[in-house]
Amino acid sequence: MNTPTALRSADDANAEARASALLNPRFYTTDFAAMDRIDVEPLRADWEALLAEFEGDNNHDHFQRDARFAAEVAEHEPAWPAELRQEFLAFLVSSLTSEFSGCVLYNEIAKRVANPDIKRLMRYMARDESRHAGFLNQSLKDFGLGVDLGELKRRKAYTFFKPKYIFYATYLSEKIGYARYITIFRQLERHPERRFHPIFRWFERWCNDEFRHGEAFALLLRANPRLLRGANTLWIRFFLLAVYATMYVRDHQRPALNAAFGLGATEYDHEVFRITNEISKQVFPLSLDIDHPAFAAGMERLAATAASLEAAKARGGLVGGWRRLTGAATGIATLVRLFLLPVRRHALPPQVRVAPAW
Ligand SMILES: [Fe+2]
Ligand SMILES: [Fe+2]
Repeated sequence: MNTPTALRSADDANAEARASALLNPRFYTTDFAAMDRIDVEPLRADWEALLAEFEGDNNHDHFQRDARFAAEVAEHEPAWPAELRQEFLAFLVSSLTSEFSGCVLYNEIAKRVANPDIKRLMRYMARDESRHAGFLNQSLKDFGLGVDLGELKRRKAYTFFKPKYIFYATYLSEKIGYARYITIFRQLERHPERRFHPIFRWFERWCNDEFRHGEAFALLLRANPRLLRGANTLWIRFFLLAVYATMYVRDHQRPALNAAFGLGATEYDHEVFRITNEISKQVFPLSLDIDHPAFAAGMERLAATAASLEAAKARGGLVGGWRRLTGAATGIATLVRLFLLPVRRHALPPQVRVAPAW
């Protein structure tokens, strides 16, 4: 099993946040003129109710440290094994990068579109993601690993996605973000002795922001049902698989972190798949059959292939190069097989909104 990049200085943390490796969180840009044409009229009442929730801003006072925070860090940190320390810091950097990725994208859309509905929504979501990224960065600064967000915004590579791909990808990343945060929170609620850093106490109200962001994309997609039909269902399948597989491989590179939670990476990821599958029925007419034995086996194979690719990279030379080539071929073949597994199809419910019930 490989270990994440060692983060010894702020330069390391900044380089890691900027890196464009396959599994690292990306920054996105889109076609703003096409985004402008998105219409929410068919779901106007739901839309206004959701925007009123954003305006109410029930988490406006949440992302501030309390009096116990510093003492809890000081109490737990000396007991962290070296692997946990590295994996936890890498987790903070990748969480910060994905939170800030949302912030940059939503801000850019808010600035560049004229459509007043989209503009309002994006402003609220950028506000939330900016708080999330800032809160994570404070914890990195405790270790001298603060990320320069202005610099990250200027220097990181951007991936272009058409609006519909932005909708599929961000809908899923918001909902999977909710599922990840709530699963960790619930586990540590049951086992407070495993809470090795105070930031996890913030995850419950935090994940409600992510849930609400996902609701906004659910409404945008359901108000434009052509995005959920025909050939687009293949794109939905693709994004479900890409998001699930990326998470699975990345989490399996952090065994010490998951062990510290008392949740194996496999158990944790399957719980996150289950929650995300359940929620995403509000908008996607299909879900991946996560109970199919070939699904779990394929995910395992992907994680093992990623580990051997890392080992081949470290080995270098001709043998390393050959193993990287065969490893990449195995990875692609496994993804194709996973993509071709039968899916579960369902009718979309009349009511789009769902409640966070996990
Ligand atoms: Fe967030
Ligand atoms: Fe979010």
